[in-house]
Amino acid sequence: MAKSYKIAVIGGDGTGPEVAVEAVKVLKTAADKFNFKVELTDFDFGGERYKRTGETLPDSAVDELRKFDAILLGAIGHPDVKPGILEKGILLKARFELDQYINLRPVKLYPGVDCPLKDKGPEHIDYTVIRENTGDLYTGAGGFSMKGTPNEVAIQTSVYNRFQVDRCLRYAFEYTKKHGKKARGLSNENTLGLVGKTNVLTFVYDLWERAFHEMGQKDYPDIRRDYYHVDACCMWMVKNPEWFDVLVTGNMFGDIITDLGAITQGGMGIAAGGNINPEGVSMFEPIGGSAPKYTGKGVINPLAAICAMQMMLETLGEDEAAKKIETAVKFVTGNKLKSLAAGKMGYSTTEVGDMVAKKVAE
Ligand code: IPM
Ligand code: MN
Repeated sequence: MAKSYKIAVIGGDGTGPEVAVEAVKVLKTAADKFNFKVELTDFDFGGERYKRTGETLPDSAVDELRKFDAILLGAIGHPDVKPGILEKGILLKARFELDQYINLRPVKLYPGVDCPLKDKGPEHIDYTVIRENTGDLYTGAGGFSMKGTPNEVAIQTSVYNRFQVDRCLRYAFEYTKKHGKKARGLSNENTLGLVGKTNVLTFVYDLWERAFHEMGQKDYPDIRRDYYHVDACCMWMVKNPEWFDVLVTGNMFGDIITDLGAITQGGMGIAAGGNINPEGVSMFEPIGGSAPKYTGKGVINPLAAICAMQMMLETLGEDEAAKKIETAVKFVTGNKLKSLAAGKMGYSTTEVGDMVAKKVAE
């Protein structure tokens, strides 16, 4: 009997719903082609619903989302809603409550895509950042005192425990073993690089560094271990991205360096991420945001959402379908699109989705 997956779709705000539609179109085509079934359920969480009802992501919705095999998210962020409310109330709440402790962000330059780095091509930009997704400055630990006075104090604390660090590192080593450059026939070794700041954050990244070497030495002696301070890492991401294979880092640094990574792979039109709970329900999203000024114009690039859905299929174990979608995306970037930027693709949002779907069906 054909496998069947229950997929929750949260279109969200701005251009989120438009790109989610294209990802779903390609998903349905892949399901037909590769003989699996998808049962889709739409949810309307986002800025409009918040404005109407005051509700972000209620606890009951979190419980409902637990019943799905995966979640596809369009984008969260509304120009009429104060920054932080929807991000914390929906996106971060889903990540935390569903314990999606890995944020997997491949940095891969596809053929035909304009790269802002001089003399770099697809053979140079092909690595993955594994961002821890539950701890660090994101836990909300902190507060104000004497707020509104000249003596106001604001504190925001980076928090990690050994358990969080270890489970993230375990995932990162296993990922490197399976998907590192040696595993892919591109190098004679698999390499995992820890990105930290051990020269200043002498508590949190000391913990990361000790845990990293302990686990690597004991369980993964064949995986080469590198270490980069985050500031230097940014420099090498621009100058020598070909050095990298798999990188692992905390939540805040991971957030920052993956935007840098995204622009080197062609920008927000293509960059996708997976919020992964290896034992639970994962959520896949284009990392670009809601792009309100392009809403409803049919000019936004749906490839990031399509790539997010592709990661979803990979995580669900539909490897063949995932590979085919990646090939189709590469075909479209390499042969069709003039640019990945909104309004400059030479095609509409729907047309781009159609071209990918057609290639997947072939
Ligand atoms: C991301 C985003 C989010 C984050 C925001 C919208 C809360 O920047 O997914 O990278 O900081 O994690
Ligand atoms: Mn970010």
